[in-house]
Amino acid sequence: MLETIKESARFLQAKTKIQPEAGIILGTGLGGLTSEIEIDTSIPYKLIPNFTVSTVEGHEGKMIFGKLGRKDVVAMQGRLHFYEGHSMYDITFPIRVMNELGVRLLIISNASGGLNPEFEIGDIMFIRDHINLMPNPLIGPNNVKIGPRFVDMSKAYDPFILKLVSDIALDKGIKHHTGIYAGVSGPTFETPAEYNYFHRIGADAVGMSTVPEVIVARHMNMKCFAVSIITDLGVEGKIVEISHQDVIEAAKLVEPRMTTIIKTLLEQIRLK
Ligand code: HPA
Repeated sequence: MLETIKESARFLQAKTKIQPEAGIILGTGLGGLTSEIEIDTSIPYKLIPNFTVSTVEGHEGKMIFGKLGRKDVVAMQGRLHFYEGHSMYDITFPIRVMNELGVRLLIISNASGGLNPEFEIGDIMFIRDHINLMPNPLIGPNNVKIGPRFVDMSKAYDPFILKLVSDIALDKGIKHHTGIYAGVSGPTFETPAEYNYFHRIGADAVGMSTVPEVIVARHMNMKCFAVSIITDLGVEGKIVEISHQDVIEAAKLVEPRMTTIIKTLLEQIRLK
């Protein structure tokens, strides 16, 4: 695996002068960040050796290299999901390449269903911890040159960054929660009984991404920050029929706030 990662990293390094310290997965809610990046170069996934290409509408894939908040960054526009049928290895491979490029902080956004009765559609939840309900992406042979066999997950979401981001949101008057994200495979949304179950086991929100990437990032000791946009509610009495379109529309409204938060985080954080 190491040679494969290095091959993809070398390909990208030859195309840009940017030396990214932070990697961003532009999931639902963070699309607006693209227009804030001073772009050096954008490279479609289909041109990058060893990359897999996404099939989901609204997730067309490219790697964007540029500057944001005075930092060199690489951003993934379009991510792969497990429900598309890709392997866990394939969906997390770009995170391996980011690490090889020098990325020390991974920033992720996603859309999720709110389980906490206090949540409303359009709320922002900074992820404090997760419950993994998908296959673990580290199952299989382990290369100790990349990371340890058994990975500590006691601080999967960096507490210092979580505090910094919460302070930024407070300072800017942006309403937010912190909470626990349950990662499921999808592609079905949950039944009312499933929403209830995920809430009872301790989750505040449920979604179909993020957890595999965070596990792989922690395997390589990258710091992680992740945020959920609450696009629908899985709270008894508030459950209504939802579609992918509803999710996209709810997330769109949150984009300006998310853009402010992430840009300010990158301005303020020291990564070297
Ligand atoms: N469940 C799972 N994934 C989701 C949801 C949901 O309710 N909303 C957005 N992504």
